[in-house]
Amino acid sequence: MSDNSKNTQHTAPPSWWTTPLLRVLLSQILGFAIAFAGALSTTALTGQTIHPLVTLLVQGIVAGFIGHRMGLAIWWVPVQILLPPATLIATAWQVPPWIFLLIFIVMLLVYWNTARNRVPLYLTNKTTWAALNELLPVQKGGQFIDIGCGIGGALLYLARQRPDMTFTGIESAPLPFLLSWLRRLLTGSRNVILKYGDFWKEDLSRYDVAYAFLSPQPMPRLYEKVVAEMKPDTLFISNSFVVPDNSADEIAEVDDARETKLHLWRN
Ligand SMILES: C[S@@+](CC[C@H](N)C(=O)[O-])C[C@H]1O[C@@H](n2cnc3c(N)ncnc32)[C@H](O)[C@@H]1O
Repeated sequence: MSDNSKNTQHTAPPSWWTTPLLRVLLSQILGFAIAFAGALSTTALTGQTIHPLVTLLVQGIVAGFIGHRMGLAIWWVPVQILLPPATLIATAWQVPPWIFLLIFIVMLLVYWNTARNRVPLYLTNKTTWAALNELLPVQKGGQFIDIGCGIGGALLYLARQRPDMTFTGIESAPLPFLLSWLRRLLTGSRNVILKYGDFWKEDLSRYDVAYAFLSPQPMPRLYEKVVAEMKPDTLFISNSFVVPDNSADEIAEVDDARETKLHLWRN
């Protein structure tokens, strides 16, 4: 790992601006004002009434655009576009309120960290599992950690390939953790350890290989943690996300549809 790693700056402390939901709210309010002003002006000028669904769709499009300009991740754009018309459709169809509560609870249990840590759930694909397997140490034994292990797919696959190694996964979102726990139970993977909790509190010093597939936001702080805690002759792998000002020692390119890059730092 490069020497300038010690100089990596901590990310700024969270302010209201770093909370995506507040930016979503602000962009929807602006979207609402612009769309409804547009609809009312059109009616005044042409005498044509604009269907509320169209106005709400315009609200969503404007909010999606403004939110993106405010720095929200690209996946918020379709969510922002669909949100206002979906509200009207749900009201028209008289969807029972408990359905929304159920959806909200499931989303909360899956995307537990997304608003706070800016790390949503998406999964390492199977081609990348195989590429990770190629990067494991050749000598027998060793400890691997998946930092934010999601539903445990990568972990269980690697544990099958390398019964001589121990694979630890740490996950703080309840539903993905429960799924990974059930999968380990069903597959009887004895060399897999699952921990429910916050990876910032996990000591990385006992791992030979640490793997993360997170988002750009935690990378500077995570890299500092890796440099401070991981021992010599260890490997840190980041799927897709770079560390600003600390380029990887090596990049492994995966032959998959999304052209995954595994960024490798050797300690
Ligand atoms: C993009 S997913 C990757 C899942 C898995 N590693 C994979 O590659 O298939 C990132 C996961 O990290 C989890 N996560 C985010 N912040 C965390 C934290 N502070 N502690 C533990 N898990 C966290 C999220 O809940 C999410 O499941």
